[in-house]
Amino acid sequence: MSLEKFADALPIPPVLKPKENDDIPYYEVTMKQVQQKLHRDLPPTTVWGYNGMFPGPTFEVQRNHPIRVKWKNKLPYEHLLPVDRTLHGAQPDQPSVRTVVHLHGGRVLPENDGYPEAWFTQNFENRGSKFASKVYYYPNRQRSATLWYHDHAIGITRLNVYAGLAGLYLIREEEEEKLNLPRGKFEIPLVIQDRSFYPNGKLFYPTQPGQEPPPAPQQPVNPTLPNPTVVPEFFGNMNLVNGKIWPYLDVEPRKYRFRLLNGSNARFYRIQLSSGQELVQIGTEGGLLEKPVTVSEITLAPAERADVIIDFSNYKGQRITLTNDAAAPFPDGDPPSSDLKQIMEFRVKQRLSRSDDSQIPSTLSSFGRLDPEAAEVVRKNLLIESADNFGRLKLLLNNMMWDDLPLTETPKNETTEIWEFFNRTPDTHPIHLHLVNFQILNRATFTGDPNGPDLLIGAPQPPDPSESGWKDTVRVNPGEVTRIIARFGPFTGIYPWHCHILEHEDHDMMRPFEVLPHQGVSQTQTSAEES
Ligand code: C2O
Ligand code: CU
Ligand code: CU
Repeated sequence: MSLEKFADALPIPPVLKPKENDDIPYYEVTMKQVQQKLHRDLPPTTVWGYNGMFPGPTFEVQRNHPIRVKWKNKLPYEHLLPVDRTLHGAQPDQPSVRTVVHLHGGRVLPENDGYPEAWFTQNFENRGSKFASKVYYYPNRQRSATLWYHDHAIGITRLNVYAGLAGLYLIREEEEEKLNLPRGKFEIPLVIQDRSFYPNGKLFYPTQPGQEPPPAPQQPVNPTLPNPTVVPEFFGNMNLVNGKIWPYLDVEPRKYRFRLLNGSNARFYRIQLSSGQELVQIGTEGGLLEKPVTVSEITLAPAERADVIIDFSNYKGQRITLTNDAAAPFPDGDPPSSDLKQIMEFRVKQRLSRSDDSQIPSTLSSFGRLDPEAAEVVRKNLLIESADNFGRLKLLLNNMMWDDLPLTETPKNETTEIWEFFNRTPDTHPIHLHLVNFQILNRATFTGDPNGPDLLIGAPQPPDPSESGWKDTVRVNPGEVTRIIARFGPFTGIYPWHCHILEHEDHDMMRPFEVLPHQGVSQTQTSAEES
């Protein structure tokens, strides 16, 4: 099936209004199934959306101004996509589709974090139980940044997110407003995702590795097969931005600020502009960089964000494609097809607004570097590939399943640690830690077994300037050890860390870490370094 490119205008997700605007604004969001037009020539697609929108509405909040959100599950009883009943798959006694919402990049208490096992279903509400919805408290005591929220239910995160459960969450602050970056209609979020469809518009998700969407809709392979095959990574055959397939955006010949999110299950994007012009990256997952970085391309693994400025002022009358040339799986898989090389199109029109007085200041923000000398612990973590009892591929962290005991990563509250990730698999994995933002120290090649005595490690390379800000997701390349440094806290309790390729996360490339109480440190103290 082929669809015409750049047939639909880029939609901008609406900003969500609080239901009650008291001291602590209170929001309500209902997850439900709806029909949505994803392309002019494709029949409507059944999707799951926060407030019935794919992607969900955008939160806009102010730093240090907390909010509360009630997340309500009105999803159907049956999953939209084939559920694999192995591992943490669907439980037969479960009354409806389970969900739990995680604020990715948020510093929140464990009970508000969307722990994979803290899921709830809509039936419990019908029974009058308090678990039919959840009210989460988000303190927003952190730098202004591009966060996002998405489903995190154990074992089916890849399916729930693929069905549409993701949206943006922007934290703003005065310091940043003063910088005079492009704003208002010149500040635009771009949520990039890949999907595949049946010709009737239905979302396609494979039940076997390499399975292509059939020309006609058909029943999924029986998901209760005794020995179902795990799909190691999903790669769709079309690119969507903000829920439209290959959209276009009319722009004026001036500067724009784009908040890029790779919201795909497994696809990496290496983004360029067909005009050959450079992009100016101003921020990463944890907010603004110290200085803008001019780059010719931007690589985004699943869950990574980039805050960029694109200046169209010399391109009046032109059409510019946002392109992708990242292989799948990354970095050594198949190059993208000509379709997948294209993401969206910018059409540079006339200037409608007054002159462009926005700026890219030479200093964007300032923050300290975490000192490796101050690290109390250096944790060696291992990314490995093995097989389960059925011979199916299994990707693991430290050779343990999600719920294997004991709990192995136990940093103390308000202490600094270096985490090393040795990648012994052939692919790059985007490793994400909940609760903390971290800095990348370096990457080095290694040969040998990280647990053996004969390990050889090459010269450490510092991260690219565009990765030198605060991060919450880091690309860990094959054959390399990637080192990050983080200050744990300010909350104690159990949080996940995992690969953000959602098929990997669901098939046990996820482990809990527990921030342990530390004498003399109170729960509410925040890390000074991150201001
Ligand atoms: Cu974006 Cu644990 O998640
Ligand atoms: Cu997260
Ligand atoms: Cu992975």
